[in-house]
Amino acid sequence: RDGSGRRVFDLRAAVGSRRLRPGRPTPTWGFDNGHLGPTLRAARGETVVVNVRNELTETTTVHWHGMHLPASMDGGPHQPIRVGATWSPSWRIDQPAATLWYHPHPHGRTGQHVYRGMAGMFIVDDPSGGPPGLPGRYGVDDVPVIVQDKNFDGDNRFDEASRLIGGVGVLGDTVLVNGTIAPYHDVTAERTRLRLLNASNARTYRFGLSDGRPFALVGTDGGLLPAPHTTDRIQLSPGERAEIVVTMRPSERLVLRSHPPELGADFWTSRLTGGDDTLDVLELRAAPRLTPSPALPGVLAEPPRIGSADGRVDRRFELANFMINDRVMDMSRIDFGVARGVTEVWEIVSTDLLPHNFHAHGTRFQVLSVGGAAPPPELRGWKDTIYAPRQVPIRVAVRFGDQADPNTPYMFHCHLLYHEDQGMMGQFVVT
Ligand code: C2O
Ligand code: CU
Ligand code: CU
Repeated sequence: RDGSGRRVFDLRAAVGSRRLRPGRPTPTWGFDNGHLGPTLRAARGETVVVNVRNELTETTTVHWHGMHLPASMDGGPHQPIRVGATWSPSWRIDQPAATLWYHPHPHGRTGQHVYRGMAGMFIVDDPSGGPPGLPGRYGVDDVPVIVQDKNFDGDNRFDEASRLIGGVGVLGDTVLVNGTIAPYHDVTAERTRLRLLNASNARTYRFGLSDGRPFALVGTDGGLLPAPHTTDRIQLSPGERAEIVVTMRPSERLVLRSHPPELGADFWTSRLTGGDDTLDVLELRAAPRLTPSPALPGVLAEPPRIGSADGRVDRRFELANFMINDRVMDMSRIDFGVARGVTEVWEIVSTDLLPHNFHAHGTRFQVLSVGGAAPPPELRGWKDTIYAPRQVPIRVAVRFGDQADPNTPYMFHCHLLYHEDQGMMGQFVVT
């Protein structure tokens, strides 16, 4: 903390290397240790300052994905950090407890920077400690799980070449969790909370457990669900998060696995964009004795209530042909303005053959409907990124808080990073 009580973090963006596989070390990029970054953590009500120093060989930015903060602190393409410079955004945390993340956002180069290893988790805590009964010992029974897929070339370097034929950018054949291949976690408590973050460029995962046992979904992008939802699958497209609680017996082994995702695409598109793939993600190894965990609380959080499905739509976003509403991202064009404090209903629809999702900066949203129907349980909490299956209109209610700035835009975009970099992105201001 500094003299005025602000929580201060220092991040150093730098080139590094990691011994990920037998043979040569893999050149990486990252924060602090040269690959990925430390988990940052602060409670609602705290003011944070992050000193980000760029020791890379090119300009980058650092965006706080899911954070409600002034546009000038957001770390999008308009807040470049030049080589050798330090950028020190500061803001007051004012949103419910959630699993957020940070990553670069330089226009046209986001995919490359993230793929090389620039990503970390940012956990927002509730100052009260949150609902009693949720596992919360970091690294013990509350574990960050940053999932990325990579390809390696013959020299153990990350292979950045995209499979252009699939149209989504790079899909890897090797899964890394927190930057580790073939990872495992030693489970010492009866219940373990996994904070899943899909930090991959293009791949959508459909997480489940190897023996098919159900788990409790307790949180999504913007915070805890109203109540735990028991399920055996949770699908996450790039940028999305989920918190799940897994219950184990002593000495068990379980594998968190990704099953073929439901992309809602045609047979060939699905096959070429990872729709057939099964991948092991993380092994859970239970100790012979597990500390007992309390039962999960029945109520976790207030349900989102900022909008209603009354049929009104204020704005429509059509995702197709590497554009949104037939426009390619232009750094000098503001697509629209939103009045602060006003709830708008946005309709998102993907109309070409490729998989897409939709993310908006500076806020979180309430899902009102998916294809005209009430949202499924996994979409009943706060979201900031949502998968958009082809031809299925999604309506969300969104509101921007106290931070008006007519001169600095926030971004909205497809979070498949190749699409984003191709210009499937736009800008809006809050006035
Ligand atoms: Cu996670 Cu605009 O990004
Ligand atoms: Cu974001
Ligand atoms: Cu897309």
